[in-house]
Amino acid sequence: MKILVTGGAGFIGSALVRFLINTTEHQVINVDKLSYASNMKSLDSVTDNENYSFYKYDICNREKIDILLEKEKPDVIFNLAAESHVDNSLANSRDFIFSNIIGTYELIESTRNYLLKNQKNNFRFIHISTDEVFGDLLPDDSPFTETNPYKPSSPYSASKASSDHLVRSWFRSYGFPAIITNCSNNYGPYQYPEKLIPLVISKALKGELLPIYGNGLQIRDWLHVEDHVSALYKVLLNGKVGDSYNIGGKNEKTNISVVKEICRILDETIKVKPNNISSFSDLISFVEDRPGHDLRYAIDASKISKELDWDVKYNFDDGLKYTVDWYLDNISWVSETLK
Ligand SMILES: NC(=O)c1ccc[n+]([C@@H]2O[C@H](COP(=O)([O-])OP(=O)(O)OC[C@H]3O[C@@H](n4cnc5c(N)ncnc54)[C@H](O)[C@@H]3O)[C@@H](O)[C@H]2O)c1
Repeated sequence: MKILVTGGAGFIGSALVRFLINTTEHQVINVDKLSYASNMKSLDSVTDNENYSFYKYDICNREKIDILLEKEKPDVIFNLAAESHVDNSLANSRDFIFSNIIGTYELIESTRNYLLKNQKNNFRFIHISTDEVFGDLLPDDSPFTETNPYKPSSPYSASKASSDHLVRSWFRSYGFPAIITNCSNNYGPYQYPEKLIPLVISKALKGELLPIYGNGLQIRDWLHVEDHVSALYKVLLNGKVGDSYNIGGKNEKTNISVVKEICRILDETIKVKPNNISSFSDLISFVEDRPGHDLRYAIDASKISKELDWDVKYNFDDGLKYTVDWYLDNISWVSETLK
């Protein structure tokens, strides 16, 4: 198959590209505008592979995407191109409206026209979304299922919800062969150090304070990025067009417990600590809470488990240790990303 991945130079997109190139025979076309959050070094292991090609395009650029689809004639599109950081959306929502809403609109319209002109049986458009579209949960609420109503809290989650509505309505109105996935917080190697886990690791190594929003008791359901990618591949092979699938890690943790666990791993691994601290946890610093901060996200992934025979491989303790070790071994990737 020819698989086009948008956002393939970002965190999850690059993990998907590496998986497809390194473990399957599919051809992969990576389309990414190379925003601040991307890093081509994440693709070092695939760039010389003859099945891999790259286009530095913005998905909002309809003309270029039209030409690209006609030229490459993909059988599948995974759409991961998006602005993805909630804090940035609070500071400046404009990029989120463009990439996440208008970009998705241009991409699905371009794809719809491409499918009208080209006979493609079993074409799939797989749109990667977030559990944040469902809003947040109270401690005793049941985890999100695919039928939960959308109730986004931030400009980021509202822009993702909008794009999901567009994709779903294109299926209903035009029979557009789309599937939506809603996943929980991802973690793992190659994540831009603005998100909690890599941010804490990179700040700790420099002996800087580790900022925790509010009381740190917000709960997230952590999904290892490689488990996410394996779920996306199952969705490609056997997912039902018009359906959506929730993907979660079965790992509900408070932010503060995640940060303390990172500090514990670093304490064990690094004997000479920066700034004369005795433990990395001395650097934990509580800061003013994020406005509208969602209290809890949790995913009920039983649909994808039952229907597509998917399950997580990583438990959180092993996944986090592996992630911390990866960052310690790849300090140069972090400095390259932050350049
Ligand atoms: N990281 C998570 O925990 C998480 C959780 C749920 C859902 N998601 C969703 O998964 C997808 C990927 O997330 P990520 O964490 O890999 O994000 P990321 O920020 O690491 O990467 C996004 C990539 O998309 C590219 N991009 C952005 N706008 C583009 C545009 N207009 N045209 C072309 N390329 C563009 C960027 O250059 C970057 O390489 C996003 O849709 C995000 O909303 C992420």
